[in-house]
Order: sequence, then structure tokens, then C-alpha cells
Amino acid sequence: MTFRSGNPAVDRYIAEDYESVRGMSSRFAATICAHVIHRQSKLGIQGHFAEIGTFEGRFFIAMALGLSPGERALGIDTFDWPDEGLIDRFHGHCARLGLDRRSIIAIKAAARDLTHDQVAASLGGPVRFWHIDGDHTPASLTADLDLAVQSLHPRGILCLDDMLHPGYPLLIATVRDWLARNPAMRALAVIDREDIVAAAKLMICREDAVDLYGQDLVDAFPTHHWPLGSDWGSYYAVVLTPNPRLAVVE
Ligand SMILES: C[S@@+](CC[C@H](N)C(=O)[O-])C[C@H]1O[C@@H](n2cnc3c(N)ncnc32)[C@H](O)[C@@H]1O
Repeated sequence: MTFRSGNPAVDRYIAEDYESVRGMSSRFAATICAHVIHRQSKLGIQGHFAEIGTFEGRFFIAMALGLSPGERALGIDTFDWPDEGLIDRFHGHCARLGLDRRSIIAIKAAARDLTHDQVAASLGGPVRFWHIDGDHTPASLTADLDLAVQSLHPRGILCLDDMLHPGYPLLIATVRDWLARNPAMRALAVIDREDIVAAAKLMICREDAVDLYGQDLVDAFPTHHWPLGSDWGSYYAVVLTPNPRLAVVE
């Protein structure tokens, strides 16, 4: 079996050009997330892609290549690290890898300083897939989630990077608190890490959208499904991992 998103343009980028754009998301996670965007298109779920923490655009480009005509991709970043040339490198990669400049929006700002109205005005419609990968403090993650959920398509996905990461142990507690304050939302799937840099992602969606995605992820990536699942207390989320295995006990 080949490990693909199902969108040829995205799969070509991930196979051939992913490493030419500096970044931190794994190929494993990008492929699975692109599969989700492909599935949304097949289900008729229309909307934009938005990302907090775009850096040079490694993950952004994979998702943007999967969008349908008329949909746009918004990148929010302070674009000042490691230097002020970052935003030019980002736009350069997007152009080099075939993205239409008119479909790309970059906002140079700390996400916590933006309002929903600013995001809505830049896109003009709901976001079907948010990737949150900016400042990894509990306060910023809470602000980023509160911002993102306001523009989220009712059947859309919030995807959080660096979850369950040894360097950011407080973030999963932040997510738990946020889910408690947003009872319509629940954990959909954990996409496990490739390594300490290419770390795990958590996908969240409305409870009434889980059935659109959960079993499909298992069916699409059976050789990466960890069957014990992710225990969130009152329900289980899907776990996809590069090398699923269970402990040998005899
Ligand atoms: C780990 S990198 C993102 C990697 C990228 N998403 C990828 O997959 O390749 C984190 C980025 O978040 C940006 N960042 C940090 N704090 C931020 C904030 N408050 N708002 C927006 N972006 C922020 C940094 O400038 C940096 O480019």
C-alpha cells in the first residue's frame, strides 16, 4: 500500500518538494491532513484553510495545494524569526510550487492580537481546516483556539501541532480546559510524531461531525491505525502512528 492523501498535486509536493521548504511538520501528518481536506472536498464541505505559525510554508503549501478553486489559504505569523526575510521566503516558496498569488493571504501579526472580524474580512467565509502552530504557551494557545473556532465551518477541523510534546507538557492541559469550555467540540484523532521535531498533531471537530472523519481515517490508513485508541475519558479518538505496535507480553 502506498501512503497518499489522494490528491495528486499534494502528494507530488510531499514526495518531491517538501524538504525544499524549511519547516517542522512531518510528511506523515501532512499526508493525513491533506487526506482530510480531500475528503472534505468530496463531501462538499467548502471553505478556506488558515494557519497560525506558517514559518516558510512547509505545511501551509501542502494544504493550500489541496484546496478547490475559489478557496483561499491564510497564513498568520509574526514573520520575524529567524529574520525579517521570512515572509519573502514564504511567498517565494508559494510561487515556486505553483500556488496562485491571489489565493494566498499572509498576515504579519501575533495571532493573539487579531480579532475574528479581521480574519473574517481577510477570507470572506468559513475556514474548513485550521492549523494552530504558533506560540506554544497556554495563554496563546487558548487565544488561538478562541480565535479559530469563531470562523470554523460547522463541519471543519481544528488541527493543533506539538501536542503531547515533551517540551510543551502544559499544552494538552490547555486543550482539555478549552474542550471543557466548548462542549460541542471533541478530540477526533491523534496523529503521532515522526520524531521530536516532527511532532504529534491533534485534530478536533464538533461532536456531530466526528462520523464524517473518524472511520474514514481508519479505513484510509489501516496500516497506521493503533487499535487501542486515544482515551479522552468519555470517548475514544482515533490514533494514527507511523509504526503501530502493541507491547509483547508473552
Ligand atoms: C514551529 S514554526 C511553524 C512551522 C510550520 N507550521 C510548519 O509546519 O513547517 C512556529 C512559527 O510560529 C510563529 N509564531 C510564534 N508565535 C506566534 C504568534 N503569537 N502568532 C503567530 N505566529 C507565531 C513563529 O514565527 C514561527 O514561524
